[in-house]
Amino acid sequence: MKLFTNMVTITALVASIIIFLTPNAFADGKSIYASNGCEGCHGNEGTGSVGPRLAGQQEKYLIAQFKLIRDEKRTSGLSSMMAPAVKNVSDEDISAIAAYLSGL
Ligand code: HEC
Repeated sequence: MKLFTNMVTITALVASIIIFLTPNAFADGKSIYASNGCEGCHGNEGTGSVGPRLAGQQEKYLIAQFKLIRDEKRTSGLSSMMAPAVKNVSDEDISAIAAYLSGL
């Protein structure tokens, strides 16, 4: 019985370590969103300001539109105002940002 209890304790410990080490896309996206200056134009938590509201938008849509603007394939409206500000944001970063924004 004692062996069983020890095994349960060890399993629980290992499980918590794995959960702790798993990258959390939502938390990463939040800090990447802030550190890349998106907030300045899209507002705190993506509520919108100069740029449109992004919070709660479909993840796939955010990624697709972001890449079109960054790569200067979408140039309508004020897109060309955003493009220079985000040209160094990687595909990995935008995936994390989109996971964060769509979850708001
Ligand atoms: C200099 C201001 C500015 C910055 C900085 C900026 N954006 Fe934008 N963004 C805009 C504007 C303005 C638009 C609307 C473009 C248009 O008129 O079509 C836009 C559009 C978008 C869209 C498309 C929204 C839609 O509904 O189609 C996405 C997605 C987006 N931005 C994501 C981001 C992310 C993520 C960042 C940070 C890495 C960022 N933007 C930084 C100004 C900015």
